[in-house]
Amino acid sequence: MTALTGVQQRLFSEALDLLCEKTLQDEERLGIAFPYVTAPDGSWDTMLASEAAGYKGEAWSHGNWFCGFWVGLLLAAHLHGGDARHLRLARERMRLVAQRADDPNTHDIGFIFNASAVPAFFITGEKAFGDIGVQAAARLRSRLVRTDRGAYLSSWGSLEDSRARCSSAIDTMANLALLYWAAGVTGDASYLVAGEVHAKMTQAAFIRPDLSTYHAVQYALPSGERARGYTFQGYADESCWSRGQGWAILGFADTARATGERAYLELAQELADYFMRRLGDDPVAFWDFDDPALPDAPRDTAASAIVANAFLTLAEIDPDTERAQRRWEQAVWLLEGLCGPSLAREPAHRGLLKHGCYSKPHNIGPDAAVLFGDFYFVDALCRITMPGRFRPALRRL
Ligand code: GLY
Repeated sequence: MTALTGVQQRLFSEALDLLCEKTLQDEERLGIAFPYVTAPDGSWDTMLASEAAGYKGEAWSHGNWFCGFWVGLLLAAHLHGGDARHLRLARERMRLVAQRADDPNTHDIGFIFNASAVPAFFITGEKAFGDIGVQAAARLRSRLVRTDRGAYLSSWGSLEDSRARCSSAIDTMANLALLYWAAGVTGDASYLVAGEVHAKMTQAAFIRPDLSTYHAVQYALPSGERARGYTFQGYADESCWSRGQGWAILGFADTARATGERAYLELAQELADYFMRRLGDDPVAFWDFDDPALPDAPRDTAASAIVANAFLTLAEIDPDTERAQRRWEQAVWLLEGLCGPSLAREPAHRGLLKHGCYSKPHNIGPDAAVLFGDFYFVDALCRITMPGRFRPALRRL
């Protein structure tokens, strides 16, 4: 990969400086709550880590699936700034997050622990962090549902609940990273198999002929056929929710890395090409590529941050070094774009990336900083500015 220019290095380093400052300031005010999305005045709305996922009547509540991202941000701040306070805070926060490792109700434990226990174990080498990560991975693996066509990880709810059993979201692709990591640290290939079978069924059920993706699929059981493709955070059932496309690219790139299978790499590349075609000239994605209000529709900085991360994986693993170079340049372009007017340089705004869109249909953070957006942005900046320190560097396939 070509090196960053001096301007790019400064830009990215300044964004990480901002992370270091804001996390310490926020920690003075948060108590035991965790940031979630920013309110219109730029302050954090918060939630306790203990807020578990579950059905409230017919309505599904995601609970706190953000808490691990805060730990990851503190760890990244520690690596960038070298300040021991960030590491101490990450440890303290991890004690609050750990209670979720046995949450039986959600695939989101992948998000929670892939962002917290996994980098904490990598950075400190402490077995306790590794053990928490493996406990969460075992819980995630236990969400596998067998069908006549293969198996998938159910996304939400107890497997005893028929609504939950047939549920699957494209977001789950991002959670496979925890399973692949657990396969590596334990030597137990069943984690790898669980991730790959899920990826295979997602490939068959979620990807439309034009290479856009469904946000969610309800499976018919036991056949494993798609009963319906739908959305709850995108514009419409048949639209392309940009963040979902990002989760798909990330998950298939990671599946290629973990399995060594070139077919997943090619699929991730095709999904990535689709994203870039729909993105056009502005590196900050619209929240949904098919919102008829375009070009006046809201943006989702988180979608661009997730895709930048996925592109870095593609750049690291692709044996076609010219294509790898192009993906790396696209990742840098996305990150530079995110460091423009969307970067919350003003102290009153507590997030890093403004103009994320958590859920427009539910009017939750429809134009806000969202903690996962900040995390994937920072994860990508770490990978570029200090390779191999936040997460291990990857090998080409
Ligand atoms: N649950 C992941 C997302 O909202 O994108």
